[in-house]
Amino acid sequence: MFSILEVIIIVLCTIHFAAPLTYYVYMKTFLKKPWNVKLDSNYKPKVTVILPTYNEKEIIEKKLRNFQSQDYPHDLIETIVIDSASTNGTPENVEKWVKKHKDLKTILIQEKERKGKAHALNNALKHATGEIVIIADADAMWSNNAITEAVKWLADPTIGAVSCLKKPEQKGPAEIEQGYRKYYNMLRISESKAWSTPIFHGELAAYRKELLDEIGGFPEHIGADDSHSAVKIALLGYRTITPETLWCTEAIPKKGYHLWRIRRAQHLIQHFLKTGTNKKIPKEFKTILRMETFLHVVNPWLLLLIAVLLPVCAIKGSTLSKIFLVSGLALLMVKSYRTWITQQVHLIAASVRNLKTKEIVWRKDIKYAKKVD
Ligand code: GDD
Ligand code: MN
Repeated sequence: MFSILEVIIIVLCTIHFAAPLTYYVYMKTFLKKPWNVKLDSNYKPKVTVILPTYNEKEIIEKKLRNFQSQDYPHDLIETIVIDSASTNGTPENVEKWVKKHKDLKTILIQEKERKGKAHALNNALKHATGEIVIIADADAMWSNNAITEAVKWLADPTIGAVSCLKKPEQKGPAEIEQGYRKYYNMLRISESKAWSTPIFHGELAAYRKELLDEIGGFPEHIGADDSHSAVKIALLGYRTITPETLWCTEAIPKKGYHLWRIRRAQHLIQHFLKTGTNKKIPKEFKTILRMETFLHVVNPWLLLLIAVLLPVCAIKGSTLSKIFLVSGLALLMVKSYRTWITQQVHLIAASVRNLKTKEIVWRKDIKYAKKVD
């Protein structure tokens, strides 16, 4: 009936598309479930906010204002800006701002050499005195209650770390990004409700300081500093969550969108290769961590195999392959399918690029016009 190659194509297609779909449908069932977390809005620990910067002159003031507008008691916030040898006057702008705004304690540390974001975070961590450490990105804005909201969840001792969901700003190639984010955010919430999510966002990631110390700080040889430290904390038995009430906006690069996505994918692949193969995973976390590892590291390659086999078999006269090929191409008209395929291409490119460079020190993308207010 079917040739061996045709059977292989059917099996590959089934695994490639059915595995994520089944996971998505299964995880969605957790959305309706309760959080099983003891919230306490009276819990008000001291918080250290760490902002790493490299050439963020245009946006830095806006971000510092964003910290200042937080509704969390200002005497309980300590901000550490750690700059790694910016060449455009970023630390000078921070100094100027700090002189004018003494109500929020802000420390500026200047590294002489740029050795990457995680290296800078670890440097800042040595100076942190808060019970909770929150890391931030210069180009991602928080809502005014972000610290309050993050801390609220950490009142429960079973929660080790909390991160945000991301909303792309309406600029740049936001169409693909928005399609992808909708599906991505839903998974982050359901994984968190099921137990923990293995993907964190450095735009706002809050950790218990003692747990960061226990795992030895941020990983300096793996790009996804945010997700990797979260999973290490989850492996210690604490929940790592992204509640549906905690959001931030992020700027999308005006140019080089695909390269930006590939670099982030490289970091996630490095992270999953290291954590997903762990032998001791808490039982509630096993399916989530293993499945996300499979989806990031293995599944994209099945699509590539399908893409190679289909035309070969079609040329050999296989009707089934012709039908699959035509439908696969026609489906590109559908946005969610196009978004999926784009993501697979990014992941394959990322795996290949990882062989060449780990992108621990990455290119600064231009995400906004010269002046930001
Ligand atoms: N101090 C310091 N040193 N800061 C740095 C360095 C560095 O070498 N490299 C980047 N940063 C700062 C940037 O200035 C920014 O505030 C933040 O780190 C994030 O860098 P972006 O250039 O905005 O990268 P992104 O938006 O793609 O980052 C996302 O992915 C990263 C991992 O791939 C975020 O989720 C990051 O938090 C995450 O680390
Ligand atoms: Mn960013």
